[in-house]
Amino acid sequence: MSDATHRFSGSLAEEYDLITLAYPDFEAFQRHMIEAIATRAPQDRRRILEIGTGNGFTTRLLAGIEGAEIVTVDNDPEMVAQAREQLPDLEIREADALTFLQEMPERSVDVVASAFTLHNMEAPYRDRVEAEIFRVLRPGGLFTNADKYAPDGQERFDALAFQVNRFFDAFLERGKTDLLRKWVTHNIDDQSPRFVMLASETPTRLGALGFVDIHVGHRSHMQAVMTATRPR
Ligand SMILES: C[S@@+](CC[C@H](N)C(=O)[O-])C[C@H]1O[C@@H](n2cnc3c(N)ncnc32)[C@H](O)[C@@H]1O
Repeated sequence: MSDATHRFSGSLAEEYDLITLAYPDFEAFQRHMIEAIATRAPQDRRRILEIGTGNGFTTRLLAGIEGAEIVTVDNDPEMVAQAREQLPDLEIREADALTFLQEMPERSVDVVASAFTLHNMEAPYRDRVEAEIFRVLRPGGLFTNADKYAPDGQERFDALAFQVNRFFDAFLERGKTDLLRKWVTHNIDDQSPRFVMLASETPTRLGALGFVDIHVGHRSHMQAVMTATRPR
């Protein structure tokens, strides 16, 4: 049984597409992850599992990778409905990520990719998800995540203040005050001990699971792109 936290429901899901207003580099940032997959996964080995479909924003970028065979999973019915409308030809599964991974055969995918999803998981649950990701990857396979990998110390709070200001700039002038309140609260919660995913702790945590070649780079304020490999 899963104990996943559902942090997307109601207006956050219904008006999720407005998030790009607060992240003008949303696509450019995620494209670093897409480039990592296109460069590192051989063309005949691109079975990709995406964790956290959302409205299909990242899924669409993944689908542009030559030879990509994508299965994507999300536990929110509203998000899944939006993604299915955008991407009717893709395999989009409504399921809890941990349960879905646990039901997959080991060594069955070449790439596990995710964006802005794993930081929404409480740390003990996320640990189990990352262990399952290692299990389902084939040896030599790639795990990559474009997400909030928080920097340490003052930089972390500067990044939070920067992001909160972005939400104010984008949402106040559109009169979206209820949504603004939810996103600001959500961004603060992301930095709480329950959820925070610190960049500095990531190599040790993933290394303990067996991952090698672990990098957190392409930093843009709070977010960065992580790549790690299951050894051959
Ligand atoms: C912020 S969205 C990101 C979507 C997309 N990658 C993007 O960049 O726009 C995160 C998604 O992950 C989903 N999610 C969060 N926790 C999940 C879990 N435990 N199992 C499945 N989906 C989950 C949420 O429902 C949400 O749709």
